[in-house]
Amino acid sequence: MKTLDDVNLEKKVVFLRADFNVPLDENRRVADDTRIKATLPTIERILQSGAKLLVASHLGRPKGKVVPELSLKPVADHLSGLLGNSVLFVEDCVGEKRNEALSKLKHGDLALLENLRFHEGETKNDPEFARSLAEGVDLYVNDAFAVSHRAHASVHAIIEYVPECAAGYQLYKELDYYHRALETPERPVAIVIGGAKVSTKIGVLENLLSRCNIMIIGGAMANTFMKALGRPVGASQVEDDYIETAREFLKRAQELGVEVHLPVDAVAAPSIDAEAEAMEVSLDNIPENLAIFDVGPRTVELFREAIEKASTVVWNGPMGVFEKPAFARGTMELAKAIAEHKGLTVAGGGDTVSALNEFGLYDKVGYVSTGGGAFLELLEGKALPGVEALERCGK
Ligand code: 3PG
Repeated sequence: MKTLDDVNLEKKVVFLRADFNVPLDENRRVADDTRIKATLPTIERILQSGAKLLVASHLGRPKGKVVPELSLKPVADHLSGLLGNSVLFVEDCVGEKRNEALSKLKHGDLALLENLRFHEGETKNDPEFARSLAEGVDLYVNDAFAVSHRAHASVHAIIEYVPECAAGYQLYKELDYYHRALETPERPVAIVIGGAKVSTKIGVLENLLSRCNIMIIGGAMANTFMKALGRPVGASQVEDDYIETAREFLKRAQELGVEVHLPVDAVAAPSIDAEAEAMEVSLDNIPENLAIFDVGPRTVELFREAIEKASTVVWNGPMGVFEKPAFARGTMELAKAIAEHKGLTVAGGGDTVSALNEFGLYDKVGYVSTGGGAFLELLEGKALPGVEALERCGK
């Protein structure tokens, strides 16, 4: 796969697929610009080389209709501020308006195109729509890791209509960290996995089992594993359909010699809203009427010790309902343990990133992925259509 450093950008027309799917506040201003900032090195490199740059992204899920609340105009304004340069905003990503803007664009200038998903051709991976996106383009650059798990026109079909392609710096960085942490890692490797359901994480668990030495399982999904071991879980959420899967998984871990850590104590309450009644309980004798909403302090210690033994740590998924103060401590302490770790640390996933932001630890982890679903699919060992297309481009 070519990267930006392998291509000649001078005087080219470059189409950059970015992921500016960012939250907007009530005044329709960008509320979190992490993803925009992550693409700046790519944008700056392209502009400095004197290319004409068209940048495209989606925002939300407008389902092929023009939804004014999902316009990328606020992103154009924000980007102007970050670059210290005015960004031309183009009201359509294909057709007359876009072609006219391109014809007027000067070398070293950039235009941000309106939301790709205002056209249904984008999510349908429609070849005609992809062809329109690619009109007059010399070089296609994908720096949108977070949407590269979607076979959409601007990340997949477009490859067929451009003469040359390259990966942007952010996309390359995401794949490089994955490679360093899970394909050629320094061992031991610890995987820390949490979240609500085994059913949504089983692909990740199975793919990573043979790649790790230590597996730490927390969050509500740990309840299903504990039940599989015949341990009491009180009134906690359990996925009964996955008890057998969990049992088999634990057996395979044992056969592979992977050290698995499950919670030994918890913060439990009669219900998720009964924060005032939250109490620490040992998991040997959790009362029947209490449900688990966080890992307890002994578990935090145990998990911390397991993390300290590793040279590489990959984290996805919270340990409890961290949005509620009574159930936040487990996730916070674990995030701190990862932030203080001296080896390679990689974290990703929507809730994990929210937790790191909430606890002010985002900048302390070695690498935080910009992808939610894309990061999970990478952890599941799936080929990402956007990456696969870049690899195929020009062959
Ligand atoms: C994301 O926020 O995970 C990406 O931008 C992809 O968005 P999507 O789930 O709407 O395709």
